[in-house]
Amino acid sequence: MKKPRLIVAGNWKMNSSLADSTRYLEALGTGLASLPRPLAIDVVIAAPFTLLANCMQTARRTDIQIAAQNVHWADTGAFTGETSCSMLKELGVNWTLIGHSERRQFFGETDVTVRQRAQQAFHQGIRPIICIGETLAEREAGKTEAVVSRQLEAFIEVLPKSGEFAIAYEPVWAIGTGKTATPQQAEEVHAFIRARLKSANLESTPLLYGGSVKPDNFAQLLAQPNVDGALIGGASLVAADFLSMVRTAVSLRDKK
Ligand code: PGA
Repeated sequence: MKKPRLIVAGNWKMNSSLADSTRYLEALGTGLASLPRPLAIDVVIAAPFTLLANCMQTARRTDIQIAAQNVHWADTGAFTGETSCSMLKELGVNWTLIGHSERRQFFGETDVTVRQRAQQAFHQGIRPIICIGETLAEREAGKTEAVVSRQLEAFIEVLPKSGEFAIAYEPVWAIGTGKTATPQQAEEVHAFIRARLKSANLESTPLLYGGSVKPDNFAQLLAQPNVDGALIGGASLVAADFLSMVRTAVSLRDKK
């Protein structure tokens, strides 16, 4: 099996500003430039839409790749508040998050719309990081695998056999709560997802863990055989913390 590529992705959510994002990306870019070449991992920052153009400009000639936090399934039309793949491509943005639990919880995102968005991203050459994960109530009811499996089945058929994308397992109870899944809990679900991907000939898909990842728990999570990186919210807002996690990933890369 081709080894999945490692990805360290930051999700700024509805945070930052033009000035802060410029300072942040300059500091991160300089930090990355001091790491041994080739980096051989993907470093991605998902920024709010209003910052994307500035982020693309600031991240030019650095190892930082910029992502959107969502994308629509149509290319144009009467979809107030949405953004299309062409709009992202016009800026040079070629990554996006899809199906983040906050979209599912607060903005009516469903398995069907996640699939539609993912399908459009693939058609348009945008690389999605598709998020799945169970709530606390679902975990406590012993439904983790059933929920993750339902969410995965909703889009597994549209995943291309070759192409770049990632799946992020983000247990909702661990997001922004300071309660990280233990490395064993994360590995258990990641192994379950990997087995399903393997049966679809997609086993090289990078599987990211997300949910209260920080510099002091990242190495242990990444040491798990089926964890290929992280989607990091709160701890990605400080450039030095995010950089330290990228450094960890680079140092563990060859041991994976
Ligand atoms: P968190 O967020 O790291 O702040 O828990 C992760 C995410 O929502 O992607």
